[in-house]
Amino acid sequence: MTSKILKGKKGIIFGALNEQSIAWQVALKCRQEGADIVLSNLPIAIRFSDTEKLAADIQAPVFGADLTKIEDIEKLYAFCSRHFKKKKIDFILHSVANSLNIRKKHPYTELNYEYYQKTLDVSAVSFHKVLQVAYQKDVLNEWGSVVAMTYIAAQRIFPEYNEMSDAKALLEAIARNFGYHYAIRRNVRVNTISQSPVATRAGTGINGFMEFMDYADHMSPLGNAPVADLASFCAMLFSDYTRYITMQNIFHDGGFSATGLSEKLIHEMRGEIK
Ligand SMILES: NC(=O)c1ccc[n+]([C@@H]2O[C@H](COP(=O)([O-])OP(=O)(O)OC[C@H]3O[C@@H](n4cnc5c(N)ncnc54)[C@H](O)[C@@H]3O)[C@@H](O)[C@H]2O)c1
Repeated sequence: MTSKILKGKKGIIFGALNEQSIAWQVALKCRQEGADIVLSNLPIAIRFSDTEKLAADIQAPVFGADLTKIEDIEKLYAFCSRHFKKKKIDFILHSVANSLNIRKKHPYTELNYEYYQKTLDVSAVSFHKVLQVAYQKDVLNEWGSVVAMTYIAAQRIFPEYNEMSDAKALLEAIARNFGYHYAIRRNVRVNTISQSPVATRAGTGINGFMEFMDYADHMSPLGNAPVADLASFCAMLFSDYTRYITMQNIFHDGGFSATGLSEKLIHEMRGEIK
């Protein structure tokens, strides 16, 4: 189903690595809804991933950028300006994260602080950089919309989520704080979406991820929110139908965040569900 709610809109989507990536599915949906897109990811990720396939499917150019580097972000925005013939952009998706402490299996009580800084830089401060360069170079149109992907571990402890919980708390704070300034400057909206677990490369890097996903599914009255529905929700946040939603962290999680205990989980614990 498509209503072309993004007809005439231009956007940048960061983080589409493979078909499982959240950003990949959002890019497909936004294109279906009529948007013109520029895809971006780490140059090395582009080289060793399927991004070019997605690019061909949605007729989007791909531009490499490491979001921890201001000069890469500046070059990307300059490229977008050329590509879109000096027209400004309307939306940005930040769907980017990485944790070396998780990858190298350092628990939260034994963090390597160099890795920790890198995690915060890639997974949260990069969002500030994307916003700050856009703000200073006036890259976004009036009523533009910027979204970053987050997880409920910013509010509650999920031990295996490790240092990424801290990164997500910072990411959500950046959305709120920058959202204030960007609203005043240009009526630009900035939000985070807190999504149910999805089996992606970043997701499955977390120890016990499949059990974690199963647990969330049992605890959510609607079940885990599928990535296709997340993509539709993202497209709506980029559209003109949500012009007064800003500085929010919005749960797209089938009700998980508001549920204390579900009957389904009790039945599961009693061994009554096969
Ligand atoms: N998978 C889940 O369960 C889940 C749930 C909620 C939120 N999220 C969030 O969604 C976002 C996307 O993750 P995903 O699950 O689609 O995994 P993914 O591994 O497919 O995507 C992560 C992307 O980040 C990119 N990246 C890493 N370092 C970068 C850098 N320095 N510069 C630019 N790009 C960089 C990677 O190349 C990759 O494309 C992340 O912020 C993640 O925390 C994921």
